[in-house]
Amino acid sequence: MNIALFASGTGSNVKNIIDFFKKNKTINIVLVVSNNSSAGALIHAKNNNIHQLVIDKESLSDTKSVLEKLREKNIELVVLAGFLLKIPEKFITNYKGKIINLHPSLLPKFGGKGMYGNNVHKAVLESNETKTGITIHYVNKNYDEGTIIKQYETKLSKKETIESIALKIKNLEKLYFPVTIEELILKSY
Ligand code: GRF
Repeated sequence: MNIALFASGTGSNVKNIIDFFKKNKTINIVLVVSNNSSAGALIHAKNNNIHQLVIDKESLSDTKSVLEKLREKNIELVVLAGFLLKIPEKFITNYKGKIINLHPSLLPKFGGKGMYGNNVHKAVLESNETKTGITIHYVNKNYDEGTIIKQYETKLSKKETIESIALKIKNLEKLYFPVTIEELILKSY
């Protein structure tokens, strides 16, 4: 089972996933794709001898060269870990049910365009939520609307800040994202 990770930013999740599957003999992280040539995610890939691919918005929307690369590497599952560009419909059709995303809130709350990173945590804070969490879901043509695979929650006190919420979310992601990917693969492939 070959996995490609797509990421745009620092890539803490990319690092967690690479570390988690390092010793796994059947599940392999074989490609890290980014639209940002200075993404930390690419450095984690490089440090682990994992193939890296930098794409731009145009090549993603054209999809042809990206799909060719994924096929060449026999990718069976695409994991979006902080990937900020929208996945085009053509791509989704070719990888139906095989693209998943991590979102830092309890969807359907605080999802949609522009809802990423601290924008999400700020909205959670301003809404006086008593809990937040992470959602792992399939990707469809609308931002953050695909079928939910798993959600994990954390309680919020009255003293939270954007930073404290971000930290709670990071902890949930570290604890649960890699293991949820593993469970999904064992169940469905
Ligand atoms: C994560 O919080 C994830 O939920 C969201 O983007 C963030 C990526 O963080 N989709 P990192 O680059 O993995 O540190």
